[in-house]
Amino acid sequence: MAEHEWDREQVQEVIRSNKDKPGALLPILHGIQDALGYVPPDSVPLIAGALNLSRAEVHGVISFYHYFRSTPPGKRTIYLCRAESCQAMGSAALESHAKDRLNIDYHETTGDGTFSLEPVYCLGNCACSPSIMIGKDVYGRVTADSFDDIIENMQVDAQ
Ligand code: FES
Repeated sequence: MAEHEWDREQVQEVIRSNKDKPGALLPILHGIQDALGYVPPDSVPLIAGALNLSRAEVHGVISFYHYFRSTPPGKRTIYLCRAESCQAMGSAALESHAKDRLNIDYHETTGDGTFSLEPVYCLGNCACSPSIMIGKDVYGRVTADSFDDIIENMQVDAQ
């Protein structure tokens, strides 16, 4: 898969401003993801070099924390709740439906770049489980059909 273009100077700036902090690796990874929406795999050697770490150590931390992405997010990220109340109300079935419908797994982005899918552990909307969040909007009592409706309306919006 081809690497995505990213702003090297922006990454260097994040590294420069954090590298002397204690425990600099996590602030740097957060800073890069805040700036670019993901941590480009090609930025790993820059980070490793600045912190005197091996590339494997940096990769290890990126893959340990599910929060960090190695590919750019879609235009909209769908957060699907996997916590207890939503599980009790059928979120596993909703999760399979969402993955099939979008044809992606968690931490992936649809081929057209529109949607990313991420798990989340409670959206504070347990009374209306199962729940998803897209942008700042939380949707409750989501079924396979209502999921499809939400997605289709967003695709219309995005055009
Ligand atoms: S458990 Fe899903 S919103 Fe709380």
